[in-house]
Amino acid sequence: VVGCVLVAAGSGVRLGLGTPKALAVVSGRTLLEHAVDCLARVERPGGDPVVSVLVVVVPAHELDRCRELVLASWAAHRPQDPPPLLVVGGADRQASVAAGLQRLPPVDTVLVHDAARALAPGTLVSAVADAVTGGAVAVVPGLPVADTVKQLSTRSPSTGSGPAGGDVRTVERTLDRASLVTVQTPQGFRADLLRAVHAALVGRDPDAPTGAGDDAGMLEAAGHPVVVVPGHPEAFKVTDPLDLVLAAAVLTRRAQRG
Ligand code: CTP
Ligand code: MG
Repeated sequence: VVGCVLVAAGSGVRLGLGTPKALAVVSGRTLLEHAVDCLARVERPGGDPVVSVLVVVVPAHELDRCRELVLASWAAHRPQDPPPLLVVGGADRQASVAAGLQRLPPVDTVLVHDAARALAPGTLVSAVADAVTGGAVAVVPGLPVADTVKQLSTRSPSTGSGPAGGDVRTVERTLDRASLVTVQTPQGFRADLLRAVHAALVGRDPDAPTGAGDDAGMLEAAGHPVVVVPGHPEAFKVTDPLDLVLAAAVLTRRAQRG
């Protein structure tokens, strides 16, 4: 059984709309609705749904509005199935994932997905779920890095001011792009292991760094192998205003292709 925690409780500061990012509208629907549409619709080849149970983590002050949107989007595809559970998120993404996991019923496989990656294709969701069902304990979608990536020297207080008034930083080295990927969501996990690494962090200082930028990072840190499956460009994260332009274009192209 596959369960999914969809985190949508962020505030969307970089998007700068003054509303939570999940409520940003693209082509007439919120990112939250687009994300739930995808998760509700994705099927196995035989027609069974991939995601049996969905928990959506949302901002406290938009709980009612989010519940309406989530339940309506789900019911449009899965009127007979148990509706998603709505949970209020935490101070950071990790706390929001933990809140979602606490409400997720017992399942074998957990997908953790960002509402900000609202246009992730169903094929990507299935591929991640299949990799976990097939025996991997942790799975992330990864994409090759297009840009050259340079690692900077550590920031030193003695460096002078740059042209924009910031610190001048110099390049330490150029990383080998061939050995790098950028990772996306959904990430997939054996449920018992993901729950264990989250439980181990409960009660620790929320401001202390965990050394893990994502859920897979928490399993890496605990020594578990993390498998990479091919990511998809349409699973990009809506972060900055320009990403909304791309999202609208992706939806237009999908509509044209039918
Ligand atoms: N998220 C969450 N709870 C938080 C912070 C983030 O559920 N306290 C979710 C966001 O809703 C998003 C995903 O984690 O779906 C990735 O986070 P990010 O892209 O950083 O979104 P925001 O935190 O909303 O954006 P910003 O950092 O610009 O404020
Ligand atoms: Mg954020």
